[in-house]
Amino acid sequence: MFDLDDRIGLFFFIGVAASGTESPDCESDADGYRDADDGQSEADECGSPAASRALRRLFRRTTNDLRGFVLRFVASVQVEFQDSEVLEDHVRTNGCGGHIYWATTGRKGRTAPPPRVRPHPAHDAKRQAYDEPCMDEKSFGGTTIPALGFGTYRLQGETCENAVRDALELGYRHIDTAEFYDNHEAVGRGIEAASVDREDVFLTTKLWKTNLEADAVHSRARDFVEALGVDAVDLLLVHWPNESVPIEETIEAMNEVQRDGLARAIGVSNFSVPQLDAAMEASATPIVTNQVQYHPLSVPTDLLEFAADDGPLITAYSPLGKGAVATNGTLQEIGGAHDKTPAQVALRWLVQQDPVIAIPKAESRDHRYENSQIFDFELTDAEMRAIFDLSGGISDSLAKGLGI
Ligand SMILES: NC(=O)c1ccc[n+]([C@@H]2O[C@H](COP(=O)([O-])OP(=O)(O)OC[C@H]3O[C@@H](n4cnc5c(N)ncnc54)[C@H](OP(=O)(O)O)[C@@H]3O)[C@@H](O)[C@H]2O)c1
Repeated sequence: MFDLDDRIGLFFFIGVAASGTESPDCESDADGYRDADDGQSEADECGSPAASRALRRLFRRTTNDLRGFVLRFVASVQVEFQDSEVLEDHVRTNGCGGHIYWATTGRKGRTAPPPRVRPHPAHDAKRQAYDEPCMDEKSFGGTTIPALGFGTYRLQGETCENAVRDALELGYRHIDTAEFYDNHEAVGRGIEAASVDREDVFLTTKLWKTNLEADAVHSRARDFVEALGVDAVDLLLVHWPNESVPIEETIEAMNEVQRDGLARAIGVSNFSVPQLDAAMEASATPIVTNQVQYHPLSVPTDLLEFAADDGPLITAYSPLGKGAVATNGTLQEIGGAHDKTPAQVALRWLVQQDPVIAIPKAESRDHRYENSQIFDFELTDAEMRAIFDLSGGISDSLAKGLGI
């Protein structure tokens, strides 16, 4: 559809338009590469960690805009241009207002224009064929993740396989597992059995904290993809920090796993703000999320502030407080106004925050279905704030940072 010259011209046009139109507030770590040396020198000049972080991010954004354009161009001449209609469609609908991720990621049709919260592409006939609910997506550093995932902790064997297949057929497009859950084979069988293409499923797994040395990272990553029956996982996380292994060693090995094609993106879980900062410093690619416990009765304010300040996404685990939200009076009252259950209100409250993803687990099919029905209503700002008040409230600036 395009010859090489068209491609050069189009990418030049897109690169110029994207760098010229992007606001500083937009997510812009498009190619995801950072410069550790430059980041360090900025930090040395500036005493305050928050200020140095902000400077580093500004610097990264600027260099990434230029570097991202070059990388996308180089990648574009290396790939078959079989999906040029995707590019044309993006240019037509977005007016080149954002970066084109497709060329570098090779993930057909995945683009991540600002703003960070992207509504489900309802025009995509293939997705509509699955009759899935409208599923929002969140982006960071070139990785786009469905805002609602299905957690699989404590699901085993056939129960796990059937739950994963059913979840995908109900419209979930994001599955969360871990080495620790000991269910990779069952999760893989569930994905295989579902009437959903593998490329439409976002699959996350996690390295257990005793396997964070470089050799273990490499061998476990190979084991994971084999057990899951996939070519690569979409996201590989460090499950818990382990102070006895330098984070630099772990992250460098995870970057190599990415280069080997076994993981498309990396991230962490249960990291504090300083630990997250250290992981980001150590990584050549974006740390796209920090998976932490987050629900209406337990709010990690410092991590939310970090995320709202252009940091990685937060993936909320135990988003239902392991079921405890179901009996909360405030959530019941708000749910009554929308004809929704307290669990649906809790999940909606999470995914309605710009940088937040939620991964509820449900063995019961009724719960699975109920939890998926959260994209057809919206909480008011007052309702959002009332739920934050359950755990002491948040500042106006944080509310703004979360898009409330
Ligand atoms: N990174 C980490 O360290 C970490 C730690 C914990 C969890 N996680 C991840 O996060 C996922 C979710 O967390 P979680 O399993 O701890 O807790 P959760 O999702 O907050 O709660 C699951 C519990 O809530 C019940 N439930 C589900 N939907 C419900 C509904 N609509 N109404 C009432 N009750 C409902 C479930 O019952 P049924 O199962 O009977 O339906 C189950 O007992 C895990 O599966 C795992 O993938 C990660």
